[in-house]
Amino acid sequence: MIKVLVNGANGRMGSEAVKAISNDPALTIVGEIDYQDDLAATIQELKPQVVVDFTAASAGFDNTQTILNNGACPVIGTSGFVESQVAQLQALSSDKGLGGLIAPNFSVGAVLMMKFAAQAAKYLPDVEVIEAHSPQKEESPSGTGLRTAEMIAAARTSAPQATSDKELVEGARGAELEGVKLHSIRLPGVVAQQTVFFGGLSETLKIEHNSQHRESFMPGVVLACKKVVERNQLVYGLEHLMD
Ligand SMILES: NC(=O)c1ccc[n+]([C@@H]2O[C@H](COP(=O)([O-])OP(=O)(O)OC[C@H]3O[C@@H](n4cnc5c(N)ncnc54)[C@H](O)[C@@H]3O)[C@@H](O)[C@H]2O)c1
Repeated sequence: MIKVLVNGANGRMGSEAVKAISNDPALTIVGEIDYQDDLAATIQELKPQVVVDFTAASAGFDNTQTILNNGACPVIGTSGFVESQVAQLQALSSDKGLGGLIAPNFSVGAVLMMKFAAQAAKYLPDVEVIEAHSPQKEESPSGTGLRTAEMIAAARTSAPQATSDKELVEGARGAELEGVKLHSIRLPGVVAQQTVFFGGLSETLKIEHNSQHRESFMPGVVLACKKVVERNQLVYGLEHLMD
């Protein structure tokens, strides 16, 4: 059985992860910790093979470093990583010979939405991303929104049309990453939704994903716990462990 420690276990995602991992016969929970606990000392004491982290964007990078430096494989759902941090953590995981995952989204449907969006962007370069989450979400745009924009930018084979973007109200045209507009909605009642909205010649295409409950992320978390122990490098995006 693979020994798993959950960090952020008192939170909404962490508590779901504890349930899902406990229900899988190949995995066993060796500890559940949160804000008040010492992550490094707990890893040293309980010796988990995998640490699942669902904490806060401000803590994700340091926690991942701590997990790797203490000899465990990180499975990170915490959002807020920038490219340079991912690169630094990949280098550290290679040095240590430890597998790991940083997943902007653990839902299989959301991973497919991103893949399909990248495929469509080859043929339809004019596209904007609209994501919605609960008001408790710490940062905007979401990690999934950022990752989708990066994948679209990498897949495009032609430039999008220029738009005027003259804003009568500041922010009306949203944010922009690598030429992809991103719009963030924060409303109660929403778990996680995203629409990737393409425009072409007299046609539009919408690729939409909707997580209705946090349990939608759990098959991805369980899969990751099993796969990272077989690897020796950290990957970014659940798709790298799915195929
Ligand atoms: N990757 C995904 O699929 C996915 C899906 C949903 C949410 N998220 C992300 O997961 C994270 C947690 O989301 P949530 O909705 O469970 O939040 P939450 O606020 O319900 O839970 C966070 C928990 O982490 C604890 N915590 C905060 N900082 C900590 C630290 N430094 N060390 C240990 N514990 C700490 C809090 O006390 C709390 O119990 C967020 O970054 C969120 O954006 C990711």
